[in-house]
Amino acid sequence: MSRIAFIGAGKIAQAFIQGLRDSSWELIAFDPQPEMLKIAEKLGAKTAKSNIDAVSKAETVIICTKPDKVQGALIEISKHLENRLVISVAAGTTIDQIEAVLKENTPIIRAMPNTPALIRSGITGLFARKEVSELQKNLAEKIMASIGKTIWVTSEQELNIVTALSGSGPAYFFLLMEYMIEAGREEGLDQEVVEKLVIQTALGASKMADLGLETPKKLKENVTSPGGTTEAALNSYKEDNFKEAVKKAVRLAKLKSIELSES
Ligand SMILES: NC(=O)c1ccc[n+]([C@@H]2O[C@H](COP(=O)([O-])OP(=O)(O)OC[C@H]3O[C@@H](n4cnc5c(N)ncnc54)[C@H](OP(=O)(O)O)[C@@H]3O)[C@@H](O)[C@H]2O)c1
Repeated sequence: MSRIAFIGAGKIAQAFIQGLRDSSWELIAFDPQPEMLKIAEKLGAKTAKSNIDAVSKAETVIICTKPDKVQGALIEISKHLENRLVISVAAGTTIDQIEAVLKENTPIIRAMPNTPALIRSGITGLFARKEVSELQKNLAEKIMASIGKTIWVTSEQELNIVTALSGSGPAYFFLLMEYMIEAGREEGLDQEVVEKLVIQTALGASKMADLGLETPKKLKENVTSPGGTTEAALNSYKEDNFKEAVKKAVRLAKLKSIELSES
């Protein structure tokens, strides 16, 4: 049976453990926080005494620490990684930065999940260099599929755009929901009523887009009757340059991601 070791057992590792607990993989985790290990164990992972202990019993290693803790964790396990696939989910930590600590030719895959992974509705952008085998890529994809959908990008730089779109993206939708809730309140509805209306509308719209029968642009046009209420609202967005505001925000998030990966 193949084993997966989690270096760090915080939120994202717990999402993986939950997603993979009924799979054929054996899961093992280490975290300096005993309470994190307790949660990991409850969710279905074995716990290790140290990172080295976790890695020595696994074929695949997933780095799940915060970016500033990655280097320290890698230094600890670097001598014990022979023939192991290393997957890092740490935002902004480049393959060059990881490789600098590990032995040459260690297969490394970078993955950029997002928060809905916690409810198995995430999307993970993946990148691997040419030296990573198809078998290893398939393995990484299967692991990431346990927390949602997956998508490969063809250059590591593209992960900065993934970060700006899907990594930070849940917050953009939450922001729109927050403002719609506020607007509904100001127009006179109760909090409970507006929340229900806005959240279900977001869910329904996402589900319609997810069917893939029509583009979001076409779906928008379909619900916009000439001279109607939706048109009045969309015209107001247009006048206020909503499109430019969204594009600028994504661009700035991408630039921030680049800046963080270079620091
Ligand atoms: N959460 C998400 O939705 C999400 C989405 C995309 C990417 N990510 C990436 O996933 C990584 C983890 O995020 P998270 O939200 O799961 O963070 P988290 O909940 O803080 O979990 C990280 C855990 O790693 C532990 N840790 C620190 N140093 C360690 C070491 N040397 N060896 C083993 N464990 C160590 C931490 O302990 P201490 O508290 O003692 O440091 C903490 O319990 C980040 O790099 C983030 O960029 C997360």
